[in-house]
Amino acid sequence: MNESIVKILHELENQSNLEKTRKIDVPPQDRMLAITKETGEMLNMILRMKNAKNMLEIGTSVGYSTIWCAEAIMENSGKIITIEQNPNKIRRAMENFEKSGTSDHIAIKEGNAKKILEAMNEKDENRKGFDLVLIDADKENVKEYFDLVLPMVIVGGVIITDNMLYPEKYRAGMKKFSEYLKQHPQVKTITSSIGNGEEITIKIK
Ligand SMILES: C[S@@+](CC[C@H](N)C(=O)[O-])C[C@H]1O[C@@H](n2cnc3c(N)ncnc32)[C@H](O)[C@@H]1O
Repeated sequence: MNESIVKILHELENQSNLEKTRKIDVPPQDRMLAITKETGEMLNMILRMKNAKNMLEIGTSVGYSTIWCAEAIMENSGKIITIEQNPNKIRRAMENFEKSGTSDHIAIKEGNAKKILEAMNEKDENRKGFDLVLIDADKENVKEYFDLVLPMVIVGGVIITDNMLYPEKYRAGMKKFSEYLKQHPQVKTITSSIGNGEEITIKIK
């Protein structure tokens, strides 16, 4: 892995650990709330396995998960579209993309995820279809995000949803979401214990 990417991922992991262990006091709106390193490794591996060129992320924060994915997708001259509504986090993410040398492969869409996804669907913007989608914004809207992204995913594409098991306060709602996926005719899904609990969903038709 390229040195500048390793350096930024390492810096962000340190920052995330300090926040999670409350060793530094960060206002709620500025917290990274990042995926774990293990989840980053898993996303990177899936993108490589699928030879992915097209990815969508809902919830950029300061770009930790995006950089893990960009590291894999840039070898394929691929592109990530990532959605975030917090301008301060977008500024920090852009700095991290610049420093890690990944910015040419990442396009940020600023604003409310639901509105952006509705507009993307309407404009049929992504004709080729996404190979992988990461759903990691507000947990209350996971089902709506899933329903909006599914038509934009290729058959055989993967949708990963973070925080299925942790934090515990979301667990009941996320279980309901997983039950919804299990009866959905277009997908196969499993809840894994990787990271904060990752739902791994494959579009089969
Ligand atoms: C869990 S964090 C994302 C962490 C990031 N994926 C990572 O692992 O580095 C969720 C992010 O989603 C953003 N967010 C929450 N609700 C949103 C919405 N309705 N539209 C767009 N972004 C939203 C938050 O500002 C926050 O930065």
